[in-house]
Amino acid sequence: MDRRERLQYLKKIVGLSVQDIAVLKDPLSGFTFDDANRMIENAIGMLVVPLGIATNFVINGKEYTIPMAIEEPSVIAAASKAAKIAKATGGFTAQATESLMIGQVQVTSLPISIESAKDRILMNKKELLKIANSKSKYVNAKDLQTRKLRDKSKNRMGDMLLVELIIDTKDAMGANIINTMCEAIAPKVEQLTGGSVILKILSNYATKRLVKCNAIFGKNELGGENTVERILYAYAFAYSDTYRAVTHNKGVMNGIDAVALATGQDFRAIEAAAHAYASRNGTYRSLTTWHKTKQGDLAGEIELPMAVGIVGGVVSIHPMAKMALKILGVKTAKELAMILAATGLAQNLSAIRALASEGIQKGHMRLHAKNIAVLAGAKGALIEIIAKRMADEANITVHRAKQILVMLQKKNRR
Ligand code: MEV
Repeated sequence: MDRRERLQYLKKIVGLSVQDIAVLKDPLSGFTFDDANRMIENAIGMLVVPLGIATNFVINGKEYTIPMAIEEPSVIAAASKAAKIAKATGGFTAQATESLMIGQVQVTSLPISIESAKDRILMNKKELLKIANSKSKYVNAKDLQTRKLRDKSKNRMGDMLLVELIIDTKDAMGANIINTMCEAIAPKVEQLTGGSVILKILSNYATKRLVKCNAIFGKNELGGENTVERILYAYAFAYSDTYRAVTHNKGVMNGIDAVALATGQDFRAIEAAAHAYASRNGTYRSLTTWHKTKQGDLAGEIELPMAVGIVGGVVSIHPMAKMALKILGVKTAKELAMILAATGLAQNLSAIRALASEGIQKGHMRLHAKNIAVLAGAKGALIEIIAKRMADEANITVHRAKQILVMLQKKNRR
């Protein structure tokens, strides 16, 4: 499809309005410099990132067209290809826990023992939760816990008490309201314990807000039993070696970040939590796990924290983020979390399948060839012609692109 056809397709299947299409065609019409200037400080311009659509995704029986914002070629093609293979066996199955986030209040310089301070906090739990909940009608501070934290820093500041709020942020990511609630209870915490509160902040390590996604990829669609075997070697490599695990997980995050960016999520928070989760047992490992089924197909699973929102924050302000959510048709933050997990799993499958078979460069460079042609100075229809020629020759370099360009320009002059 060309761009017009793609937009018409989206209009039909996800019900985009004429105004939506106009914003997609001219993103700056919906988001001006004034908007950017209100959003951040010292704004000087805007960075435009390509927005594309990954296809073939079926998650829990529902079809999705997934918007992805990314500058890297082949990511969207790779996700769509893996989703197509998974579709043949029923697609992705995903679950998400409740949207429980943790807010941390750090208490130091206690005049009483940490154990006594804990008791005082827990005895007044109800009141502390009431103070926290007075800050929002929407999100709900459900519980409060205390922990003694050993200071392991070289400065030896001393052990401290942590008071942690467990907050159900529902369909919001929740960072702002969690911080507000933590700040709200701080004076009472100081009054109860006699200690000094230093930090009052959410934890991005959202271990109570997990998403899990599984899929089966048929051996024939993957390229046969041998490919399945080779993918299992790739997984063994990523599971067992940190150097490889980081790159493996980078591939996973190619998918997750692209959807997160398109839908206006805090992708730095997702990244930070994902990598901590990959190290949860003391060694950094792959975020995905892979095994062979009895039938010889490949079964994959991903599990990671996923703090995303569909209300509040950038999601409610940025027209493109709103559009991306409309295209997805998500009704809850949990549903969005499941889509992100499925995209991460799909992305990883495509990467390790390519790496374990023909190698990553063949497909990647074929898709990157157009950028190389542009770098060599090609314009208009020549870009496609030069890219195709270089891909056919398996010689995708700026040097070769320049040679072909000169040749074609000479030919055109004749
Ligand atoms: C490139 O952006 C991502 C890969 O390096 C991921 C991987 O190695 O698994 C291809």
